[in-house]
Amino acid sequence: MEPQALENAALAAAGAATSVEEIENVRVEFLGRKSELKLALREVRDRETGMALNALRERLEDAIDAREAELERAELDRRLTDERVDVTMPGTPIRRGHLHLITQIRREVEDIFLGLGYTVIDGREVETTRYNFDALNFPPGHPTRSPLQTLFLDDETVLRTETSPSQIRTMESQEPPVYIVTLGRVYRRDTPDATHTPTFHQVECLAVDEGITLGDLEGTLDYLLKALFGEERRSKFVTHHFPFTEPSVEALVSCHICDGPGCPVCRHSGWIEVGGSGMVDPNLFEFVGYDPERYTGFAFGWGLERIAVLRHGIPDLRELWRNDPRLLGQF
Ligand code: DAH
Repeated sequence: MEPQALENAALAAAGAATSVEEIENVRVEFLGRKSELKLALREVRDRETGMALNALRERLEDAIDAREAELERAELDRRLTDERVDVTMPGTPIRRGHLHLITQIRREVEDIFLGLGYTVIDGREVETTRYNFDALNFPPGHPTRSPLQTLFLDDETVLRTETSPSQIRTMESQEPPVYIVTLGRVYRRDTPDATHTPTFHQVECLAVDEGITLGDLEGTLDYLLKALFGEERRSKFVTHHFPFTEPSVEALVSCHICDGPGCPVCRHSGWIEVGGSGMVDPNLFEFVGYDPERYTGFAFGWGLERIAVLRHGIPDLRELWRNDPRLLGQF
């Protein structure tokens, strides 16, 4: 091929190349070891032709390099565009879990009492009948002692029916003053229905010191009720009976629906029962070796599920155990 024709052909091929791979092929074709130009250069006999062919080689090299650089840039641009991540696009949402409602309430109650200077302690779920019943002043033959109501592991071991045995264990392990709360599961032989589950949670509180009065109990419970249900709620206390308190009182909170006059939710009384409490029976002090002449104390034990029901209007306690995220996700 004439040098001019060769140059034209090479420049045309370089211009037509559309990728780095193609331009490499053009380079091999026109400048490679077996290319026409290289073969011609090897055969050169005179200086003039040699210089002309070398000049042609240089021009072709420059043209091919330039085209290659152009194509590389274009490919990089294309990759940058194709692979660009738009950080302003909304991502794929990740479903986040959160604490179960009962765990939330548990932590809330713990925080309230930590704020009042109480200590949060652990209790045990497997208890002896001595701590679950005897020490708490349950008389022989009390219905709760029956295997029909309580889950026995053996004759002397039960799944605790309430958190109150922690009161005894705490008093046995320390001298007054005592200001503790303990929260955890309790077990009863109940058939599940809308208002019963065989396992539920209680918060137990015990305060023992010199000069503790029923007024201290009511003040503490009023504070707790307002912290849980809102400042505008009122509290009241009515007599009740528990083996381990004397006197025993049931705490009531003003109805959140009617706030007084009565409605179906509060069974037309204006008040809703929250849980049991009272002044520690001196028999418990004698059991643990506290001086009942010197010390008095109050205690209460409330259900966390009851707090959840009253606060969120959960119609069926079993829902809290079904773990359906559509329900639990609302809290
Ligand atoms: N243990 C009682 C129950 O499970 C609740 C209770 C009532 C606990 C009075 C107390 C208390 O500490 O003083 O029904």
